Amino acid sequence: MIIDSPLELIFRDLFYRVAAFAGGHDLFLKLEGFNVTGSIKVKTAIALVEDLERRGLAMPGETVMIESSSGNLGLALSLVCATKGYEFICVTDPNANRAAIKSIELYGGKVIVVENRDAVGGFLGTRLERIDEMLHSNPNAVWLNQYSNIANKNVHAEETAAEIAQAFDRVDWMFVGTGTTGTFGGVSERLREEFPGIKVVAVEPVGSVTFGGEPNKRSIPGIGTSVRPQLADHAKPDRIISIEEEQTVEACLSFARERHLLVGGSTGSVLAAVQSIASEFKPGETIVAISPDLGEKYLDTIYDPQWVENFIKPRVAETIPISTVVASVAGGVEFRGGSSLPSKYPEIPSEMLQVVSSTNGNGNGNGHGNHSANGNGHKHTKNGASGE
Ligand SMILES: Cc1ncc(COP(=O)(O)O)c(C=O)c1O
Repeated sequence: MIIDSPLELIFRDLFYRVAAFAGGHDLFLKLEGFNVTGSIKVKTAIALVEDLERRGLAMPGETVMIESSSGNLGLALSLVCATKGYEFICVTDPNANRAAIKSIELYGGKVIVVENRDAVGGFLGTRLERIDEMLHSNPNAVWLNQYSNIANKNVHAEETAAEIAQAFDRVDWMFVGTGTTGTFGGVSERLREEFPGIKVVAVEPVGSVTFGGEPNKRSIPGIGTSVRPQLADHAKPDRIISIEEEQTVEACLSFARERHLLVGGSTGSVLAAVQSIASEFKPGETIVAISPDLGEKYLDTIYDPQWVENFIKPRVAETIPISTVVASVAGGVEFRGGSSLPSKYPEIPSEMLQVVSSTNGNGNGNGHGNHSANGNGHKHTKNGASGE
């Protein structure tokens, strides 16, 4: 393999067959962590920038691309912007991984770390306020806005889903972790066309609000939101599985020990979700899940027992039990065909809700309006989320 650009380093046909992973069924894990910049987000980054270019909103050497990110997308955008000649500014917060910040800077991006928490105790509101200031003070600045830009969804329909459809004659179960829901929306849309009987499962952490859950404090980045992203209007899961962060850590550790691959946090959540409903898989069914990144960048967090002790375990010890549910939306009650999801699930009959665990915590994150590239270029939107 000879490449002419690092952006060609996207491994589209890489699946790890995890033998007898779920109740005797093999799991096919689509590995995206070997892509350049280490995650699935390189596809998103290319798509977001090319979308602006197509709409005539980007001028190399002039346009300043701005995004709120705590890691993977920021890193991917810094590379994409460097190769295309755009200035890039990543607005992040103290939870961002040091290696990611350093790498963004090495690719030529600028990193702004906001220090103050927002009204609900998170950083997203502060991040978005800073973006708003930059957009007002710099006419060349444009916010890519992964939370509402439809290009974030479409790229996963056109690429990620097509890669899966190319590799399998049938797919019966598809598991996708959700942050902005771009991956989920695109993959589910396209795979439902290819495999009409498929069940597409959205996986998120307990404490995420995307699908109507109560906001709780979360410490593992990548999936989950504190403010529902506008893209979630396109996410119509057959099933939603909420995973405790402690389960995510356990899944990552056992996968490293037993399957010999250090995977990232969202992969751990997805693996836990697959196992949680393994008893429902039928003989001969094909089960596929997406692994968005690898574990090295989590060595000081998920894979550090002291960090887990400090940030994950206390919340479980302090538990004020509230029910956490696996919402089984078989047949898609209200929102399968709807254009947006309700903030709660009043429509789901109680017999369709399966209690899997309990936890407590506090909300973190916020969102507010800004100039953004959410479909029409510079436009005010009222969205934002801390998916990534
Ligand atoms: C590691 C990881 N997993 C999962 C996701 C979720 O992807 P999406 O934002 O498309 O929902 C992200 C998003 O940044 C991520 O970085």
